[in-house]
Amino acid sequence: MLARHLLSRRAKFIHWNAARLYSEGVRQLNTVGEEDLAHFAKILPESCILSTLPPKPTATNDELAPYNTDWMGKYVGQASTVLKPKTTQQVSEIVKWCWERRIGIVPQGGNTGLVGGGVPLKDELLLNLGGMNKVRSFDPVSGVLVADAGCILEALSEHIAPHHHIMPLDLGAKGSCMIGGNVATNAGGLRLLRYGSLHGTVLGLEVVLPDGTILNQLSTLRKDNTGYDLKQLFIGSEGTLGIITGVSILTAAEPQATNNIILALPSFDNVQPLYTKVKRHLSEIMSAFEYFDRASYDLAIKHGHGKALSAEDVEGAECFVLVETSGGKREHDEQKLDELLETLMEAEEPLINTGVLSSSPAQFASLWAIREGITESISKEGKPYKYDLSVPIHAFKDVVDITREHLRSKGLLREDAVKQVMGFGHIGDGNLHLNIVADRFTPEIQAALEPFIYELVASYKGSVSAEHGVGVMKAHALHYSKDATSRALMKRIKDLFDERGIMNPGKVLE
Ligand code: FAD
Ligand code: MLT
Ligand code: ZN
Repeated sequence: MLARHLLSRRAKFIHWNAARLYSEGVRQLNTVGEEDLAHFAKILPESCILSTLPPKPTATNDELAPYNTDWMGKYVGQASTVLKPKTTQQVSEIVKWCWERRIGIVPQGGNTGLVGGGVPLKDELLLNLGGMNKVRSFDPVSGVLVADAGCILEALSEHIAPHHHIMPLDLGAKGSCMIGGNVATNAGGLRLLRYGSLHGTVLGLEVVLPDGTILNQLSTLRKDNTGYDLKQLFIGSEGTLGIITGVSILTAAEPQATNNIILALPSFDNVQPLYTKVKRHLSEIMSAFEYFDRASYDLAIKHGHGKALSAEDVEGAECFVLVETSGGKREHDEQKLDELLETLMEAEEPLINTGVLSSSPAQFASLWAIREGITESISKEGKPYKYDLSVPIHAFKDVVDITREHLRSKGLLREDAVKQVMGFGHIGDGNLHLNIVADRFTPEIQAALEPFIYELVASYKGSVSAEHGVGVMKAHALHYSKDATSRALMKRIKDLFDERGIMNPGKVLE
């Protein structure tokens, strides 16, 4: 038996950031050995096992690299083995074995997470859910969709589109992220303003618990007040309590008409009054109110996301707002948007410089592409430090400016400093994405940013994670947003489900 201790091999751990976080609190776990592989081969076909372990490796380190490396290229694990089960039963048998052998498991969906939760800290077993990608049922009357956890979000949207339904969540990562990952992170995204969070739209879950037991709560009922709502615990648990294998979710009727408009603002100070005004004017048809500063816009355009607005439209714009409407009648919604634009432009002290209203599906997509492309363009520009924060709307710009000045005072800014620190996000949800682009991830920048940003957020009574979760990145910072009593209860819940600590070790809770 080749079982080895995770902790005793910590010296080989290469990533400085994660290494710090991994130094305490993680129970002694074993890693995958020859005997374990032989057992997995009884559960899964050969094609579903990728392993670099001797004597018969089925994959190279290069082939495992995409599983071991997170989307930002910031967190790098060293899993020797990736398993890709296709059924809940297979997941259950794998997990049962790992429970008995005390082998750490990292569940992984599309690996688009932004807090390092979906990659191993060291050489835990990586369980990728991508092979579980079947829609189990869709009821066009109720709109309830039941799907395997490994279904890609966009594929689900396409599946229900002919039935005139849409998914209640949408994110820039839709082409890769999986519904199980979405639920595990309690992803927010671009439609939360309209359809609410997954805590409301997820109706049921099927979960493999850390000892391999299958918890079947795959209800399709909208109302079920029979005791504790256990599924809620798994929504946002980031793989630390069990492996989500099936999701039942309430989809929404496709709106009859969708429109969007980008408004260019001369000053951030106008964002809050604009939000109030737009909300009042559009009322029930407003479905998104997204914010991005000038630096974010410039980067998205530079990297080819969406068509640039005219030079005249962007002149003097400090920031932008994208408003989407989803309503019942195109003419009615267009008229409302036209009137809104007119009112805004003709005001004595206009809140906006200009507005660009989409007039075709291609233009609609292009305006969204600017907003949705910001994340990718930041990554193309350099190494991203990403802070996903809940702060009062009025503080969005201050948080960005204060961070920029702080980095400047430490001599850590490039010459094009304005383009190095940027803010965008979901105004309607009070969710700011503060991003810093650097040439490299360095301990100096890291030390300058943390705990500085978390203390700044705490001063606004905000949250250090609005929608991306905690993962490994923020496990040490949880105390900024959860008091000691809450953290102690969270630890007790973790122990109740996973007293051996095999599920995503070192994530969420230190
Ligand atoms: P992964 O990255 O694979 O995993 C994320 C976490 O969930 C990990 O802790 C993992 O262990 C756990 N996990 C995954 N699958 C399971 C499972 N089946 N059972 C148990 N645990 C599991 N996030 C937002 O909230 N809003 C956005 O608008 C948004 N936009 C994004 C845009 C881009 C371009 C990118 C790259 C990311 C964006 N994200 C956003 C972050 C990310 O896409 C979401 O967190 C997404 O929900 C992660 O899904 P995934 O399948 O990629 O999960
Ligand atoms: C977004 O809103 O675009 C996402 O949360 C991704 C990000 O923060 O970069
Ligand atoms: Zn977001």
